Amino acid sequence: MVGRTVMGGFDGGVGHGYKSKTCRDGGGKRRAMLRCIECGGLYDENEVVYRCRCGGLLEVLVDLSRAENVFDGRNIKLWKYESFLPVRKRVSLDEGGTPLYRLKNLFPDSKILLKNEGANPTGSFKDRGMTVGVSKALELGMDKVLCASTGNTAASLAAYSARAGIRCYILIPGGKVALGKLSQALIHGAEVIPVKGNFDTALEIVMELSSELGVYVLNSINPFRLEGQKTLAFEIYDQLGEVPDNVVLPVGNAGNISAIWKGFKELREAGITDKLPKMVGIQAEGASPLVRMFKEGEEFRPCGDPETVATAIRIGNPVNWRKAVRAVQESGGLFESVSDEEILQAQYVLASREGIFVEPASAASLAGFIKLRSLDLISGTTVLVATGHGLKDPNAVFGRFKLPDPVDPDVELIRRRILSSH
Ligand code: F0G
Repeated sequence: MVGRTVMGGFDGGVGHGYKSKTCRDGGGKRRAMLRCIECGGLYDENEVVYRCRCGGLLEVLVDLSRAENVFDGRNIKLWKYESFLPVRKRVSLDEGGTPLYRLKNLFPDSKILLKNEGANPTGSFKDRGMTVGVSKALELGMDKVLCASTGNTAASLAAYSARAGIRCYILIPGGKVALGKLSQALIHGAEVIPVKGNFDTALEIVMELSSELGVYVLNSINPFRLEGQKTLAFEIYDQLGEVPDNVVLPVGNAGNISAIWKGFKELREAGITDKLPKMVGIQAEGASPLVRMFKEGEEFRPCGDPETVATAIRIGNPVNWRKAVRAVQESGGLFESVSDEEILQAQYVLASREGIFVEPASAASLAGFIKLRSLDLISGTTVLVATGHGLKDPNAVFGRFKLPDPVDPDVELIRRRILSSH
């Protein structure tokens, strides 16, 4: 039923662990609170805070009593799910509503689908996070935003802050950001500072400087950004008409897997669905601390020198690792790693057999799925999340193909060339 208010929320018995009177201000206007995932410590939604005093990650508790059941398969766009989102302002470039394709050439006999996040305004899933995150920045009265990025966060934050009319500062790992992403950040007018070091180092500097400089950090440690990204779960359910058995996605800083899991859990808490998917996180072999932890049953240890052709997920110390581990454990899912070769092969297969061009990190979803299927570790309806567009990283293609030298405009010569190919 469209427009129905569903159960749940601060009063609705969803297990948030505190009473409504502590959560609503005088006018009953409060939409959310922040809660530490470790100690349960609570923070006001208008406090600029990224970690709990105990060091734990924060998550947004949304008042789901306001959530509307709008899941009718129509007019799918991110802001259709506004009643689940803890912001009042809206800085938007019309994000979301990305296609969900059946991979019918590659998997004719199974229900394997691909959610093409490259179709977002700046070409990646980050736009979901930034439309909400930059809206929150305005609500908080912040006029400067800052992030560390392997490229897509930078491109997206630069675009949304241009839209909002606020200043944007970006730290990137020098020499390791794909060309398309860099060009986006520059043209949108961001101040781009390449750092000698990897993403993890850049993020440490961002966190150290944030309060001193009075800037709002929009990395995925910011729980409001993840609120935007949770809408990917809503769209999958809205488009598919059911919750899939598995959702497979690349993992870098581990925000997206946490956000999507939160989205599915909220659908259930709101009484809209009763099933949850298994969350399957794929890392590149050269940057796979979560896979190592998962497979070897060890404590989390960062990977000191991450390296992979999938530069978007070239991250050794994922800031959201605790949330990601929780998502995989709670959902009964798993982590797997894939080699650079498997990633590039999956990218090629997807483009040449299905007509879908994704960047290398995004192809990790398909590469991981192929690997898990061959090991009989995955079955049922599966959604692969393709996180970014292939045009972001043209050099990844030119590493594989060489364009032939130009030939004379000679019809006979070109005829022979065409007839002799294939
Ligand atoms: N895929 C792409 C294309 C990405 O750009 C990223 C992250 C991920 C997957 C991993 O998502 O970090 O939520 O686990 N890119 C970040 C950036 C780190 O700076 O653009 P995650």
